[in-house]
Amino acid sequence: MALQTTTNIWHNGNLIPWDKAQIHVMSHVVHYGSSVFEGIRCYTQPNGSGVFRLQEHMARLLDSAKIYRMPLPYTVDQLCSAVVDVVEANGIAPCYIRPIAFRGYGEMGVNPLNSPVEVYIANFPWGKYVPGNQGADVCISSWSRLAPNTMPSLAKAGANYMNSQLIRMEAEVNGYSEGIALDVNGYLSEGSGENLFVVKGGILYTTPLANSVLSGITRASVIMLAKQLGIEVVEQALPREMLYIADEAFFTGTAAEVTHLRSVDRILVGDGTMGPITSALHEEFFAIVNGLKADRHNWLTPVNVKVAEPVGV
Ligand SMILES: Cc1ncc(COP(=O)(O)O)c(C=O)c1O
Repeated sequence: MALQTTTNIWHNGNLIPWDKAQIHVMSHVVHYGSSVFEGIRCYTQPNGSGVFRLQEHMARLLDSAKIYRMPLPYTVDQLCSAVVDVVEANGIAPCYIRPIAFRGYGEMGVNPLNSPVEVYIANFPWGKYVPGNQGADVCISSWSRLAPNTMPSLAKAGANYMNSQLIRMEAEVNGYSEGIALDVNGYLSEGSGENLFVVKGGILYTTPLANSVLSGITRASVIMLAKQLGIEVVEQALPREMLYIADEAFFTGTAAEVTHLRSVDRILVGDGTMGPITSALHEEFFAIVNGLKADRHNWLTPVNVKVAEPVGV
């Protein structure tokens, strides 16, 4: 789907026109992938709009930058205010928010330390990410996820998404909605842009951080909701075949939200429909973000958005 443009983008402390948010082809990031970024959703509720877990996303952005020795001259609070400013200036909700920090135009050569750090925040409308209204048909990828001590999977870095691109392209070329990668030891890791959950015998399993997964903010939210609903949650390494014998399975992610898996490698997950534990979590998650239930965890940062329409395509 073509990117829908908005009016403003936040750049290093100022709002600039969408079309002016450009970089030089010789910027370090273009050649060496030196970026870290976030993906955040802003939802609408009956009485306004709210950004989901904004503080946690901005804290993760700073963590990603720290791993890559990329000093960001902003605090979590300043970055959160910047998000509110750009979302309110563009007047679009619901929307997806993309903060990104990267090494700009400076020196050539792999060492990024002498290239300036640029920070941008854009927002735009973005709907369903993993196709399949009746559940997603996914495959196990022939590509492995990032091996430990190669590319750090706790950093949400642009370069990690070269691996994600291989996984996603292979899946789509072969007629699947998404691919799930194994880690370097052959255990389940995650989707190209989603964390993975499996239900078996009433227990909710998810793969731990040691299996090369991103520390997903939706993952953490779903784990919290599950515990509150009295569902036992176990984080442990899972073999691939756990998916084939699962009662239920689903992805979580900012883009994917909570998406149930209908099949894996053409083997139905359970009976292929969204099972009771996935349904309960799906309902609870959307009830909170859509304002149908109280925001009891203070997950939503209010934004004052009056218009709910994109400017152009
Ligand atoms: C590789 C990967 N794993 C997991 C996730 C889910 O993380 P979150 O729920 O914080 O969006 C994402 C999306 O950001 C991702 O790109």
